[in-house]
Amino acid sequence: MIDITSTVEWQELAAHRAEVESIHLRDLFEQDPQRATRMCTNAGDLSIDYSKHRITDRTLELLLGLVRAARVEDRRDAMFAGEQINVTEGRSVLHTALRLPRGSSLVVDGEDVAAQVHEVLDAMGEFTDRVRSGGWRGATGERIATVVNIGIGGSDLGPVMVTRAMRYYADGPEVRFVSNVDPADLTAVLTGLDPATTLFVVSSKTFSTLETLSNATAARRWLVAALGDDAVASHFVAVSTHRERVVEFGIDPAHMFGFWDWVGGRYSVDSAIGLSVMCAIGRDRFAEFLVGFHTMDTHFRTAPLEDNAPVLLGILGLWYSSFLGAESRAVLPYANDLVRFPAYLQQLTMESNGKSVRVDGSAVDYPTGEIFWGEPGTNGQHAFYQLLHQGTHLVPADFIGFARALVDLPGRDGTGSMQATLMANMLAQSKVLAFGKSAEQIRAEGTADDLVAHKVMPGNRPSTTILAPQLSPSTLGQLIALYEHQVFVQGVVWGIDSFDQWGVELGKVQATALQPALESDSAPSTGDASTDALIRTYHRMRQR
Ligand code: F6P
Repeated sequence: MIDITSTVEWQELAAHRAEVESIHLRDLFEQDPQRATRMCTNAGDLSIDYSKHRITDRTLELLLGLVRAARVEDRRDAMFAGEQINVTEGRSVLHTALRLPRGSSLVVDGEDVAAQVHEVLDAMGEFTDRVRSGGWRGATGERIATVVNIGIGGSDLGPVMVTRAMRYYADGPEVRFVSNVDPADLTAVLTGLDPATTLFVVSSKTFSTLETLSNATAARRWLVAALGDDAVASHFVAVSTHRERVVEFGIDPAHMFGFWDWVGGRYSVDSAIGLSVMCAIGRDRFAEFLVGFHTMDTHFRTAPLEDNAPVLLGILGLWYSSFLGAESRAVLPYANDLVRFPAYLQQLTMESNGKSVRVDGSAVDYPTGEIFWGEPGTNGQHAFYQLLHQGTHLVPADFIGFARALVDLPGRDGTGSMQATLMANMLAQSKVLAFGKSAEQIRAEGTADDLVAHKVMPGNRPSTTILAPQLSPSTLGQLIALYEHQVFVQGVVWGIDSFDQWGVELGKVQATALQPALESDSAPSTGDASTDALIRTYHRMRQR
């Protein structure tokens, strides 16, 4: 593999940085009246405006050169073809196969994975039809009113985010989620539920995750206490790649929905892991969701690099993190139903690209992995935007908005539209971030001299604006796939394996090793003084 820093493009970008740092976005727009229309691309239903970035045509040329030097297109084709690009785990990375249209074929290692995907989708469809129509009955003969998904990480964040985002389209049973091993989570979720009308979906790729198995076991106890052992069969189903462990837990394998090693946890919401989503919105809406993903996959595979939305989003993030010293990216959906989208992206992007060695094990000597965070607008405006506008950190932002509300309300004066108010706020924020307000403008308004410096809005703060007609299953699928692929582009350029997550393993092992010390009365001896001291404090506090 190449050392990306040794390429001409990387070195030229490092030199080019000073040139860009001396230019303000105001100047870039003044110099080029076409900038706003030139620096905008369409992918599926999404319009992606990247004109408010601190880039010139030369920056883009060099960044795209970097993409070519890293052979992103070859790696992309290798991923779509099912090559084992997750080298540290020896696995293919085929989440794109999960959304191949019915009737397609993709043969990997002698198996038609597209056919397998549709077999599972059909089984999910039949099952969710029964749950939604009342054909599936609980142990006492009652229909299911609530589905509780028990999972964590990719087996939770995707389904939670999508179910919340698709609230408007939901016409099935209520769907709740339990993830944290904190007993408060399960307790709160079960409050008010009737065991006779509750169905648990235990979602775990490995079916060995501590949090999920603890919650699933506690949920089973809750059910059995009310309805007896025999009730488990009609109140528990599983989503997993691991049949033996599902059976060992006591779930009928006929009620298990499978997926495959080639689906990473954080890339799995469009697999059987989306079963709870399908319970909420039904198989037809779920199919539209998959069409959205596939639309973006096709764009990513076929659009020229210059117009390729995931490529552009990926390299812009890389430009700020590897060259301009930005550490984080704010994701600001101006759609309240996307409230969990930033949290979902945190796993997708940070578990994927939070790596400090390259695929060949050599250490990187450049920053990788942006820190993603955010909240829906306008709430964020009244919380952390002050730092975005006048703070000392460079925080590129992704604004996400929709032209039409699912349900609009009249504006404050009884006319107009609240959706227009929301969108006006989004556009105002990206405008102010980019163009700010100078000391001269502020002085000219008659502001007292001693306040001028406080009121200056420096501007020159970059953002992308993603606009779609409406939040729908399809546009949501497109958005998710857009970010999946931008993660991929960055990972390839950085030369890292975006599909493993070794960094989460040691903590799991240590937690299991430490639990006996917490539950014992003896003096702890865990191997480090700090943990021992904390456990002693814990013991003291338990006795109070
Ligand atoms: O701890 C990280 C992780 O392995 C994620 O990658 C995964 O999404 C999550 O745990 C849950 O894993 P599982 O689906 O196997 O329970």
